[in-house]
Amino acid sequence: MKTQIFKIDSDNIDNTVICKAADIIKSGGLVAFPTETVYGLGGDGLNAEAASKIYLAKGRPSDNPLILHISSFDELKPLVKKIPESARRLAREFWPGPLTMVFEKSDIVPKEISGGLNTVAIRYPENKIALEFISACKTPIAAPSANTSGRPSPTRASHVEFDLSGKIDMIIDGGACEFGLESTIVDVSLDVPILLRPGAITLEMLREVLGRVDVDKAVLSKLEDGEKPKAPGMKYTHYSPSADVIIVRGDREKMVDKINQLISEDDKSKNIGVIATEENKDKYKDCKVLVIGSVKNPQLIAANLFKMLRKCDYYKIDKVFAEGLCEDELGLAIMNRLKKAAGYCIIDV
Ligand code: TXA
Ligand code: MG
Repeated sequence: MKTQIFKIDSDNIDNTVICKAADIIKSGGLVAFPTETVYGLGGDGLNAEAASKIYLAKGRPSDNPLILHISSFDELKPLVKKIPESARRLAREFWPGPLTMVFEKSDIVPKEISGGLNTVAIRYPENKIALEFISACKTPIAAPSANTSGRPSPTRASHVEFDLSGKIDMIIDGGACEFGLESTIVDVSLDVPILLRPGAITLEMLREVLGRVDVDKAVLSKLEDGEKPKAPGMKYTHYSPSADVIIVRGDREKMVDKINQLISEDDKSKNIGVIATEENKDKYKDCKVLVIGSVKNPQLIAANLFKMLRKCDYYKIDKVFAEGLCEDELGLAIMNRLKKAAGYCIIDV
């Protein structure tokens, strides 16, 4: 299959491209499109066959459910059994935006979309191109991140092209994604809402609106064998470059010393990298330094994280040390993705 790629300017959206994309969706095809979080791989969310094409293109296990994307609040109602008050309050604050909510699903949502669960995840993004595209399709759009399963999520059209070219019909190139980490996921189908995946809408922001919000164990630490996360996707290895990723965290000065020590002790034939903050970038010796941003600007670090993990492959790095960051606010989401990329290999200093 030849993958068509079209650039779109979000300030002057070319409607002919949107119509072409919508036609592909209506005939059961797949279109990758930009959102404010990461690029999504879109298919008709009410078409079970489109869902199986998505799983196939990504190489994704089919017990891992897909998020349905809508372009107005009214489109939520037919997809869910009920809209709890907590969901209304979160929607008022954060929709459209980088927040996904899990509801009890209605019967029109195919089980292929929900991975056999009786719940469904819904997101109303704010990216203008995403909204025009979803609205033109006149159906909810099922869209996982548009990467090969297990690889870092794509924050640029070139990342999608690298992973999925030849396997999907079209890529809409809308430039770099604003947030760069996937949406926050909250299960609102339970009496006490639970954070299933941290993101740009932080736990602190959710609690400000709802009061009590619990945190699924899979957000913070590796699950024991046999333990099940509430978001099935959280059990899979994720975001991994080919390199071994090792997080070093703790006192910032000791962290630099420890990383330099580990580099000096390592096999000299290995290509070693460090994912470093702006503040520490000149302190590392005998390695490729990938600068992720200043500790004073977590938004930029979040936006750069997946790009840095992909760069490890580009530079053929064998082992990469990553500086650990503080795990409050946006740091919770950044460290959650980094820990998964590292397979929870963490050295505390
Ligand atoms: O920012 C995002 O959410 C991006 C963009 C494209 O919107 N999408 C995305 O989708 O990250 P994906 O498929 O890569 O991640 C969806 C996550 C998975 O961990 C999945 O297990 C979880 O959402 N999920 C989906 N439906 C669920 C449900 N009914 N209950 C619990 N978790 C669910
Ligand atoms: Mg994903």
